[in-house]
Amino acid sequence: MDWGMQNRISKIIRPETGRSVMLAVDHGYFLGPTRKLENPNKTISPLLPYADALMLTRGVLRSSVSDVTNTPVVLRVSGGSSVIGESLANEGVITGMEEAIRLNAVAVAISIFIGTEYEKQNLLNLSELVNEGEKYGIPVLAVTAVGKELGKRDQRFLSLSCRIAAELGARIVKTYYCDGFEKVAGSCPVPCVIAGGPKLETELDAFEMTYNAIRQGAVGVDMGRNIWQNPHPVAMIKAVRAIVHEGAKPKEALKLFESGKKKKAPASKAKSR
Ligand code: R5P
Repeated sequence: MDWGMQNRISKIIRPETGRSVMLAVDHGYFLGPTRKLENPNKTISPLLPYADALMLTRGVLRSSVSDVTNTPVVLRVSGGSSVIGESLANEGVITGMEEAIRLNAVAVAISIFIGTEYEKQNLLNLSELVNEGEKYGIPVLAVTAVGKELGKRDQRFLSLSCRIAAELGARIVKTYYCDGFEKVAGSCPVPCVIAGGPKLETELDAFEMTYNAIRQGAVGVDMGRNIWQNPHPVAMIKAVRAIVHEGAKPKEALKLFESGKKKKAPASKAKSR
C-alpha cells in the first residue's frame, strides 16, 4: 500500500492497538436536526478528544468544528436523499475528492444500499469514488446502509454487502452488528467497524454489542446515537474506548461509565473563528 494511503488509514485505525473509536455525527445529512445533534458544536466539542476520527459532512465540519482540532476527519460524501423523501437509497456523491483534500480529510465515506432499485447507482458511485481516492491516497469507507429497513440487518445481508464493498475497493467497511457477526467480519477482506444504530435501552446493551463485535472480528466502532444521545456522552465514549482499545469487558465498561458520570464534563469550546 502506498505511504499516503497507509498513513491516512493509520490515523483512523490506531497502530498501537489496531483498533478505532470513530465518532459518527453525520446523521443530519438525511435526518435533519437529529435529537441531541441540533447544535453540532455543543455535542461534538466535549467528545472530540476521545474520538480517533470524526465522521461528518463538510457543512457541519466547516460550521461547527474547531479548525485547530487534531482529530482526523472522515468526510461523508454521499447524500441527496432525506428521511421524508421517496427513497433513502437514491444517493449520489455530494462532495468531490478535491474538496475532501482541501478539508484535510483522512478518508471519505459513502453509503451503499444493496438490494434496492438504486443498487447499481450506489455501487458505481462507490467504484468511481474509489478510483478517485486511489489516485490521491484517500481511503474510501463504505457504509452498508439499510435505510429505514432495520430488520435487514442480518448476517447474510450484511456479509453480502460488506464483501461487495470490499471487492469494489473500499479500504474500510462500516456495517451493523448482528447474530453470526464473525461470518460478516470473517468474509470481509478489509477492516470492519460497526455502527451503533438507534439508541439501545441500556448502556450495558451498547457495551455488550461493542465487546461482542470486537471479539468477533470488528476493528472498532463508528458510533453515534448510543454515545451522544446518552445523558453522559463523555463517560459513554470513554467506556467504549476502554472496550475497543483496552479490552475491557462490558461490566468493567459499565463501572467506568458509572464513575465517569460523576465527573463534570469540561465546558464546550466555541468554534475558533
Ligand atoms: C450511517 O449511515 C449514519 O449516517 C451514521 O453514521 C451511522 O448510522 C452511525 O451512527 P449510529 O451509531 O448512530 O448508528
